[in-house]
Amino acid sequence: MRTPLVLGNWKLNKTIAETRDYVEAFRIATAGIEGVEFGIAPPFTSLAMAAHEAAKSGIRIVAQDVFWAGPGAFTSQISAALLKDAGASLALIGHSETRGRFGKLEVPADTGGFFAESNTTCRLKVAAALQADLTPVLCVGETLAERELGQTDAIVAEQVFEALTGLNPLDVAHVVVAYEPVWAIGTGKVCDATEADRVCGVVRDTVRDVAGSDTADRVRILYGGSVNPGNAQELFNRPNIDGGLVGGASLKVDDFLAVVRAALPSH
Ligand code: PGA
Repeated sequence: MRTPLVLGNWKLNKTIAETRDYVEAFRIATAGIEGVEFGIAPPFTSLAMAAHEAAKSGIRIVAQDVFWAGPGAFTSQISAALLKDAGASLALIGHSETRGRFGKLEVPADTGGFFAESNTTCRLKVAAALQADLTPVLCVGETLAERELGQTDAIVAEQVFEALTGLNPLDVAHVVVAYEPVWAIGTGKVCDATEADRVCGVVRDTVRDVAGSDTADRVRILYGGSVNPGNAQELFNRPNIDGGLVGGASLKVDDFLAVVRAALPSH
């Protein structure tokens, strides 16, 4: 039995003071909720404040990225050890925005995306996070062009395979995978629940190929991309979808609370 997990990805939003106010309200609103795990991913600058305010509550603190090395001469990067020190217990890895696919924001062609994330850097980050006891949340998903070319399953399977291959199957069981079709992120165009469940099944099959059936049955697979209080329950009711990664709808306490509640097993 997999415990549902709902994570809010704040992206580049909220000051330290805004974070404190949000977490205070969210902590009160979620007191007593059982049967679903939930967390928020503030910007790095707010992580420690969020962790401080969330202490002794059920709110998990998530980093939006993690570097695979350190300490050392790695200007601008944050290691798993420093994230743990700030109070994070999970880290997003390979979000489509760090893979260089910012929606409408133009990325110069010669940069390979602002952050040049690849399946190889994702694998290094997953391994580093696991080593530090930080739960990796590996994000995968196809672009609209890839979907229209019929490449969805191949792209998603490749992203999962390349990030997880070579790891100890017992470790892989602790990984969370978030299927986030790039065309559904921040667009209001949610993926149809049946289709989202089908692709999450492709993710699970790939985990089975990499790490065996026991691990595949334990790994939690989230759906992300325009999840909101109105569509969450239909998505979370599907057999292969174990919760959600929520962007825009996680910025307001009431909306995010409704999405978290939609993942409760009784729904
Ligand atoms: P969205 O973002 O819910 O705003 O579409 C999801 C994400 O990027 O994780």
